Amino acid sequence: MSHVTTHDPELDNLLGDEAINHPERYYARLRKINPILWNPRWKGWVVTGYEPVMSGFRDAERLSSDRFSGPFGAELRNAQSSSQQLLGFLSKFFVWKDPPYHTRARALVNRAFVPRNIERMRPRIQGLVRDLVKPYMDGQPFDFLSQFAFTLPVIVISEFLGVGDEAREDVRAWSEDLGAVIFVRGHDDEKLKRGEAAMRNLAALMRPIVQSRIESPRDDVLSALSQPDENGERLSEDEIIANAALMVFAGHETTMNLLANGIVAFHNFPKQWELLRANPDLARTATEEILRFDGPIRALGRWAKESFDFHGQQIEAGERVLLVQHGANRDPAAFKDPDTLDITRWPNRHAAFGQGIHTCLGAPLARLEVVEALGYLASQFRSIEVTTPKLEYNPTMVSRSLKELQVRFHAQ
Ligand code: HEM
Repeated sequence: MSHVTTHDPELDNLLGDEAINHPERYYARLRKINPILWNPRWKGWVVTGYEPVMSGFRDAERLSSDRFSGPFGAELRNAQSSSQQLLGFLSKFFVWKDPPYHTRARALVNRAFVPRNIERMRPRIQGLVRDLVKPYMDGQPFDFLSQFAFTLPVIVISEFLGVGDEAREDVRAWSEDLGAVIFVRGHDDEKLKRGEAAMRNLAALMRPIVQSRIESPRDDVLSALSQPDENGERLSEDEIIANAALMVFAGHETTMNLLANGIVAFHNFPKQWELLRANPDLARTATEEILRFDGPIRALGRWAKESFDFHGQQIEAGERVLLVQHGANRDPAAFKDPDTLDITRWPNRHAAFGQGIHTCLGAPLARLEVVEALGYLASQFRSIEVTTPKLEYNPTMVSRSLKELQVRFHAQ
């Protein structure tokens, strides 16, 4: 059976200017042709409809997340053959694994994400938001991305994990370098070398902390990861370190980009900012709406472990599937006026945190950070002005991330 395609090589370019800088237009064009399309250029299926994206996330039985076997494995091994140590750590990330390893590691980490532990971060987050904004109260322009959006989550996740303050600046730099490898911002040797060095440094920092948590556990994520599960089995030291690094990375890159994308959304819909200012309680639904409207992850990959019919398309074993969350979140079949930012939208069952067994574990923490940040910014500033003349996004298929975001906040 022949696959359904766009018959347009230009439209198949998932890294072209249209896809990278105008995803709402681009994914809508694909969805109109068919919500599930074969992309000969990427050699995989591109899914842009809400229903198939969500059901794809739920179908972990047939759609694998494993990056180290199947088609992704071969690609990764070729691209990163020079960085075996990095690969060794990445291959332990539970987000890139299927059960049973995934189930075991997730259950261990999950222990630390109890509501009490999250809620405990609230006053700290409130304090950080105020401190980070203070230098810009006078309306001078600054890079929101590096000065605010990056710093807040990286401090929060380091503290949540239980990594000390002294290492914060290092963690920040390494996490940036690791991000370049994980979110595939190019595969050049220089980046890979830096990613590898970052992982080595992060591992060296964490190893003694992990060893001390194994001996005397505290109430933090590293301790949770270090303890035996109910069968008395413990993750290896390297597995603990790898998954702590996953958390550092997952905890900041996404939240940072969400904050930045949210600022751009409010800049483009100033009436919604006024509405939030008048009703600070809307910070919660506003957070869900920016997750939907311009969430930090565009799309996530899976591959088929067996051949099956997927919403009318025949997917063959071994084929790759790209679940495009941005496509799902702007699907008119799931959301009324999907291209309009509406901070009162409710319910808002967006795809930004995924679905099924891999659903974002850090969602409550991310929500807390963004709700507190939005609430405070709205209480202080009458308007937000984006001063970067032309916004440019990093050319990756996975993340929706700005290269920079110069802003000016106008106080009351
Ligand atoms: C706005 C911010 C965030 C977004 C949009 C986001 C989104 C996601 C998504 C879509 C997944 C599913 C991946 C998949 O199915 O392949 C995921 C998984 C994950 N996220 Fe987040 N995330 C955010 C923040 C965070 C934070 C703050 C943390 C940690 C503190 C975190 C930790 C994780 C972990 C550990 C997983 C793996 C879960 C698993 O595989 O079972 N995330 N995230």
